[in-house]
Amino acid sequence: TDRYAVIGNPVAHSQSPMIHAEFARAGGDDIRYEKLFAELDRFRDVVGAFVKTGGSGLNVTLPFKSEAFRMSDELTERASAAEAVNTLTFRDGKVYGDNTDGIGLVRDIVDNMDVSIAGKKVLILGAGGAVRGVLEPLLAEKPAALTIANRTLIKAEALAHHFAPWGECRAVGYGELAGQGFDIVINATSTSLNNELPPIPEGLFNARTLAYDMVYSKGLTPFLRRAQSENAGMLADGLGMLVEQAAESYFIWRGKKPDTRKVTHMLRDLLS
Ligand code: ATR
Repeated sequence: TDRYAVIGNPVAHSQSPMIHAEFARAGGDDIRYEKLFAELDRFRDVVGAFVKTGGSGLNVTLPFKSEAFRMSDELTERASAAEAVNTLTFRDGKVYGDNTDGIGLVRDIVDNMDVSIAGKKVLILGAGGAVRGVLEPLLAEKPAALTIANRTLIKAEALAHHFAPWGECRAVGYGELAGQGFDIVINATSTSLNNELPPIPEGLFNARTLAYDMVYSKGLTPFLRRAQSENAGMLADGLGMLVEQAAESYFIWRGKKPDTRKVTHMLRDLLS
């Protein structure tokens, strides 16, 4: 039995054990997937103990993604661009770090929603870890333009500068968005967690716009309600991204792609 886990603080509410258990069940794989809680200053110790007792891989959630990046011996390009790791693989005494968040977002938009990113005007709201984790895979899709809007402009500018080798991003404050329309608007701020709305001007959405909130919830988030009230063509929350990033981790560890649709439907039913 190969052993995996999600490590975080907090970790109790993580859906990852259920998602991976479903992938394994559907694929006839014999795995064990646990939850690992680590005190804030004990991440490396807890990871070390897991490896010592035969663990094969870890998903890493908040607040440990940068620490997982720093403890990786080898990194994929997308993880090194993000400077954050959400998937660790332990093999032959080495630690391999990857980040599947961005590809999870891209697959949800492109494959599940059938919306291409290539050639589109894309706006991402926020400039924290959630944005950093997804920019390289988004840029790899070759949008016509990628705009990063943040309340603290300097953080958006720093991200645009950091990701310049992978593609051009324009950094703006929310005020500068007035009068502009976008094909895809992604909310990657933490506002939805506090039932708040980022200070977006009116008119960002039109009947062809996909409004995507990286947070998932039972009802519509304030951002998605706003998009709906402006008649955005499509609304999506981050549940599909959650399942897709898990599927990519599963693929890294086990070499096969799980079917995500059933698991996403199952989680959606559990939410409602
Ligand atoms: P995460 O890792 O989830 O991205 P983070 O690094 O704390 O979390 O970043 C939170 C993001 O949400 C930031 O972009 C933050 O804007 P600032 O950089 O200006 O702080 C954004 N955010 C949080 N609350 C917000 C609010 N009420 N209005 C606008 N942006 C908000």
